[in-house]
Amino acid sequence: MKTINLHNKTFEIFIPETEISAIVHSLATAINNSGVEKPLFIAVLNGSFLFAADIMRKITIPNAEISFIKLASYQGTQSTGTVNELISLTQNLKGRNIIILEDIIDTGNTLEKIIELFQNKELASFKTATLLYKPDAYKKGIPIDYIGKSIPNDFVVGYGLDYEEIGRNLPHIYKLKN
Ligand code: IMP
Ligand code: MG
Repeated sequence: MKTINLHNKTFEIFIPETEISAIVHSLATAINNSGVEKPLFIAVLNGSFLFAADIMRKITIPNAEISFIKLASYQGTQSTGTVNELISLTQNLKGRNIIILEDIIDTGNTLEKIIELFQNKELASFKTATLLYKPDAYKKGIPIDYIGKSIPNDFVVGYGLDYEEIGRNLPHIYKLKN
């Protein structure tokens, strides 16, 4: 089993690059086939930067746009429960079809904060797409529209996801080895 060390922890390979690519492709296909017009994708930095870059190249909807927000809730391998907005949107969202791009939905605290940010903006529609989802950690009732892969409640790194800011550049997704 291929393992790597980040800071003081050992991680083992969990979702290889080829599988990630297939997951991203199937999410893009679902969105392309949804009939949404002129969508404005909003990628949630930092974790979703690779996912956003890869899925956008597979979106074939005319006049699709992308923008970014930056939120943070994690410290080390634990969610802190409070979500801070570090970079916010400046454009007018009225009448727009928003599709959120998240790397992972864990407790749902970040998603709840995002929904708060997009409330009262007179959007035409609001959907969420996440590469990974941890159903056993999810504490909110908010439905998630597009889920790439549901995973157990393990801490994962790679493909944009970090452990104390490192590991984002790894092409595969690894999980913490017990
Ligand atoms: P939530 O607010 O608990 O749903 O967590 C969402 C954010 O926490 C994600 O966008 C990630 O940035 C981070 N996160 C959650 N789980 C993990 C993980 O297993 N590895 C790395 N980051 C994670
Ligand atoms: Mg994130």
